[in-house]
Amino acid sequence: MINAKNIILIGDGAIGSSFAFNCLTSGVGKSLGIIDINMKRVQGDVEDLMDALPYTSQENIYAANYTDCRYADLIVITAGIPQKPGQTRLELVQKNTAIIQDIATQIMANDFNGIILIASNPVDVLTEVVYKATGLPRNQIIGSGTALDSARLRSEIGQRFNVDARSVVGYIMGEHGDSEFPVWDFTTIGGKPIKAWVPKPQQADTLEAIGQKVKNAAYSIINQKGATFYGIAASLTRITAAILNDDRTPFALSIHLEGEYGLKDVAIGVPAVVGANGLERIIELDLNNADRQKLTESAQVLQKTYQGIQK
Ligand code: LAC
Repeated sequence: MINAKNIILIGDGAIGSSFAFNCLTSGVGKSLGIIDINMKRVQGDVEDLMDALPYTSQENIYAANYTDCRYADLIVITAGIPQKPGQTRLELVQKNTAIIQDIATQIMANDFNGIILIASNPVDVLTEVVYKATGLPRNQIIGSGTALDSARLRSEIGQRFNVDARSVVGYIMGEHGDSEFPVWDFTTIGGKPIKAWVPKPQQADTLEAIGQKVKNAAYSIINQKGATFYGIAASLTRITAAILNDDRTPFALSIHLEGEYGLKDVAIGVPAVVGANGLERIIELDLNNADRQKLTESAQVLQKTYQGIQK
């Protein structure tokens, strides 16, 4: 069980730095050590973050090294090359697999036995890489998966139907990427199924438009500002809080499956409850045949990509 609430962040780029600041302003964690290949930048970030301490939580922020992993409850990995405009997440797999494998080796060389939360892309494939490289039980290896996509879904629905996005329940499942899909059968607004909010003649077009907007959100943001970081950082902070506080909160996360949804030996975005043990349980929705097929096809894309890096 988590008690000290010690976080190690590996990767101090835009996402990592935004995550660190969000933890500070949200009072998530008691101690946050930061590791990056550019430790000069880390030192500057630590000093900058410490300037916020009088207005935020009294978190111990410090420039860390891999020996500090021994005492960490949670390691958050954001390191890796980010998407360029028009680039898919899967195209990052070769470079980022090498980076993540090295990180996993250094973590385990320091007897780490806590929980690892990965956001580096392609996050589903890299979650599987970390699972295999560390040998830790699957409940301790969590990818951010489609948590951000599900937040985008809830935000888009909230804006379109003029309701508080926090009253929207819904999941994007599958790859955090082009083969992801919304699970409309389990999407509700204020407890009322979304389809009941849309006149039948407009249902297909409305739901399709929402799904496409969510799927393409990162491409749109990257084309405009060069990168995404606030949405993913907020998702990582909320997932971190659920782990450290044992909240038992459901998210759509990338989890190594062992038969759930009829899938094995692949990490992919599924609804899962998160708490002090990391993965507490997987939520198996009774998917309709079309959605089950979409999930299977998405898993096949990920398994093919994973097998490709093994060659
Ligand atoms: C995005 C990145 C984190 O979807 O994959 O914004």
